[in-house]
This record gives sequence, C-alpha cells and structure tokens, in this order.
Amino acid sequence: MTAPAVPQRLAAPEPGWTDTVDVVVIGSGIAGLTAALEARELGTVLVVTKDVVASGSTQWAQGGIAAALGPGDSPEQHLQDTLVAGAGLSDPVAVRTLVTEGPDAVRDLIELGARFDSDAAGDLSLTREGGHHRNRIAHAGGDATGAEIERALVAAVKRAPGIRLMEHALVLDLLTAEDGAIAGVTVHVMGEGQLDGVGAIRSRAVILASGGLGQLYAATTNPSVSTGDGMALALRAGAKVRDLEFVQFHPTVLWLGKSAKGQQPLVSEAVRGEGAFLVDHEGKRFMQGQHELADLAPRDIVAKAIMRQMLASGKDHVFLDARHFGDEKWRVRFPTILASCRSHGIDPVRELIPVAPACHYSSGGVWTDLQGQTSVPGLYACGEVACTGVHGANRLASNSLLEGLVFARRITNSLATELPELREPAIDRRVPGLVDADVVPELQRVMTVGAGVIRSASGLAEAGATLAKLIEQPAGEPGTPGWEATNLVTVASALIAAATTREESRGSHWREDHPDRDDENWSGNLDLTLAAEGDSSRPGATFVPLQQEGK
Ligand code: SIN
Repeated sequence: MTAPAVPQRLAAPEPGWTDTVDVVVIGSGIAGLTAALEARELGTVLVVTKDVVASGSTQWAQGGIAAALGPGDSPEQHLQDTLVAGAGLSDPVAVRTLVTEGPDAVRDLIELGARFDSDAAGDLSLTREGGHHRNRIAHAGGDATGAEIERALVAAVKRAPGIRLMEHALVLDLLTAEDGAIAGVTVHVMGEGQLDGVGAIRSRAVILASGGLGQLYAATTNPSVSTGDGMALALRAGAKVRDLEFVQFHPTVLWLGKSAKGQQPLVSEAVRGEGAFLVDHEGKRFMQGQHELADLAPRDIVAKAIMRQMLASGKDHVFLDARHFGDEKWRVRFPTILASCRSHGIDPVRELIPVAPACHYSSGGVWTDLQGQTSVPGLYACGEVACTGVHGANRLASNSLLEGLVFARRITNSLATELPELREPAIDRRVPGLVDADVVPELQRVMTVGAGVIRSASGLAEAGATLAKLIEQPAGEPGTPGWEATNLVTVASALIAAATTREESRGSHWREDHPDRDDENWSGNLDLTLAAEGDSSRPGATFVPLQQEGK
C-alpha cells in the first residue's frame, strides 16, 4: 500500500507579527514545563500551548510515576520490567538512563513542591501496576498524580523569571533555515482573528513537548488537544519519526456505550494494582493462567485478552470487580475514579465497572538521541511526542511521566554546551495544503476499525484508501479545526504506513494476518519521513535493525 499524500506545510495567512526568543517550548505538560524550567538558565523561554497551560495529558494521569524508590527495589529491576514490557524493541541504554536518573528526578520534583502520598511513617506510598514486579509507583491525591505534578510545575513556571507563557496558541509549522536547521515557528494565537493572530517567532532552538495522538481514534483517554501536532510538525520539517505503529490501548477505560466518542474516563491500572480483577459477563476471571502476573500482566497482554473475550462473547466490554475495596478504600485511594464512575451512574462499591480498551499512549514519536536532539538541528523533543527508545513496542505503566521528566532535563544539558545560533528563516516555497475539518469523525472511525487494537493488511489498506479520499475533500478557510485535521491525517498516514510495513505481532501492534512475533525479520525500528512528490508528500517507512551497542 502507498501511504496517502499529505500537505507539506499548512495553508495559513502570512505572519503579521514577529517575536524573538532563545528557546520555544511547544506544550505545557510535565515534559514541556520541566524543559522550560531548565532552559531558562540559558536564555529567554517561551512556552506555547494550545489551550490553558494545564490542559494537556499530564493533568489526567492517574496511577502515578514509576521509579525505584522503595526498599528492596533497584534501577536494575525497574530496567528488567521495562525491557520485558518493550517486547524486544526498547533501547537498553535509553532505559538504563531512565531508571538510574529517575529516582533523583522524582526527589527533585518533590523538592519543587509536588506533594506525593505517604504512609503513617512519612515514607512515600508506592503501589504497583501492570508489568511491575515491585511496588514502585509514587502517587498523589490517591489517583490524581498528574494533576498534582502539573500544579507544582505550573506554580514553579509562574514564579520563574525568564519564562513567558502563550496560551490558546497553535503552532502551525516549524521555520527552517537554508541549511535545514530550526529557525523558529509560525503560530496562531486563537481568538485574535486569523490575520492578526498569525505570527512568526524566531528562536535558536525549539523543544517539542506537545504530547500524543489519541484523537486519531474514536475513543481515547487523551484530551481533545492531543491531535498529533508535534509529530506532524516534525514530519513536515523533515524530521525522522520512529515506531508510530506502537499505539497503546489502555485495557480498562470506563465503557460508556457504543456511541461514546472523544475523551473517555480512565480506570487506572493502580485499581488492579490494589487488588481489583477482570471478569467476563458470567463473572468468571479470565486473566489467571494467561500470564504469571495475571490481571497485572503488561498492558498489551491485558488489552489483547480483553479483546479476545469481547470477540468470543460478541459483547463490547468486560468488567472490573473492585467491590471488595469497600467504601473507605474507594474514597481515600481512588477519589477521582469513584467520582467519575458515580457521575456516570456506576457505583463501584456495589457494582461491577464496565470497561473496554481505548487509545491511550503513543510509544513511538519523533526520534531523539539521549539528549533529546531530533534529526533536525536545533529541534528537540521530549515526553509523549518523542521516541527516545525507552518504550519499545509497549510502554510499561507509569513510565511516561518519568520519561517526560528525565529526558526533558537532559535536553538542557545538551543545549548548555551548544545553544544554536539564531538563523534566518528560509523562504518556504513548498505548496501549502489544508484538510477539511469535517473529515475528523470519519478519520477516527476508519482508524479505530482498520488501525486500532487488531490490524490486518486488508483493514489497513482500507483505512489508507479512505484517508486518501478524505484528504481530497475541498477544505474551507484556514483555522484551528482544519489545521488540527491536517495534523491528524498526516500522522494517521504515517501510522498506517508503519503498521502496514511491520508484518508481525509485537507489543501493542497486533496483526491478525501475522499473529506471531518475528525476531528474525522484525527486530528493529521503523523510521518514517515524508518523501516529497509534487505538491504533497507521502510518508515512507524504513526498517532500521536494532543496534547492539544502543545509541
Ligand atoms: C493508569 O493509571 O493506569 C495509567 C498509567 C499510565 O498510563 O502509565
């Protein structure tokens, strides 16, 4: 299958204003705000964010942040669990970096003001989630860990001199110089009118920290801002994007009926970590005997087991049983989930919770080295938008907040040695394009059916063909919905190209026409770039065998 052709840059009014800073950070979750706090030591920093500063995925993280902080645990054990979850594709050097720098990074977060839950003796309370052999997940507010981390980081950023925040602003494209290096960004400040609102910000470096791509699918745990913008920006600027086929579906998302669309409520793995278990419609436990960790097997294994149950029974959900927690444990340990279930008419103290898998996390993303440098000079990436090599084919639970934290800190180490010079943006002669905003529901439908949990060559080809037709639909005036839709189709095309190329099942990539893991042919990564063809570009995937030495 040839991937559908996508626009090379976004149709938009000419920039009406110009600004200059040293570093632009795109995104305001744990990765973006950590990068901003570190980068301000080097120069002026502007954080550009699409909504209000605390609106990204970090805010919604429930379970916690994984780090070897407890007695009897060690970075080595955390490394082993991460490598097993990654199904042979994690970069061991990247994972070692994560697990060894992780504990200090969490301690520094506490120092900064994040209040994690502790026991009566004042020690950090640590819980367990899927794939972990130790209790190593630190949490806050019971099940409101992301919200507490975001609160502490936003407060620190607001206190910090040298950081400016630009809210309600969508970055349209990356500006590059004649030599291809980063020269800044074009940005639309929403609500200021199209002509007044589009401007150019020149900068010496750009850090992408814009999160994931959950809105590619009909049901996702991600907020509405997760439209794959950073990955699309990077592709259009010529950067390499890696392993997009590995989209993680969270096994236990509250099932709200067939027609539920958009962001869906998460039921954290920590609920299973504290003893809840999955049952089918007859009340029978089905994870026992499937994996040594049963209900706490790595996420891909639990999601697949649930899908198999759903296919075999013809039902569209299974159940989570946590009635034995009782009222007090639910109230103290999982107040957010309790409130969310009750707001949908389910009382988990007395009833089974209906759950089904939904899109949760992109394990792949913009390729970076261990310093966060992408393949485009001056462009850095961290957090979910990046592919550092940590997650491989399937991310270990609660490693995402940690990865955002650890690798955002590393970018500044690298910038401190060499902050690039300010470059003159080259005149962009590529033909601008725009996708009609109305295509999004159909895009989400075809991605869910053809490129969701279960994939096949024919399903992917059908999704690709529908996408190609949607792209041809005449677009309206430039504006946020059309720009986001364009980013979504760009990332969808790249994802389909990768998922079609990888003819095996591994981690979160499940091909029913190639049901086995094939180490002989597929031990490696898939790199995606846009190959220009006339007025548009097609994503092409290149196989890169695993490097024995790491990076
Ligand atoms: C959860 O709380 O189950 C989500 C944690 C994660 O995605 O790592």
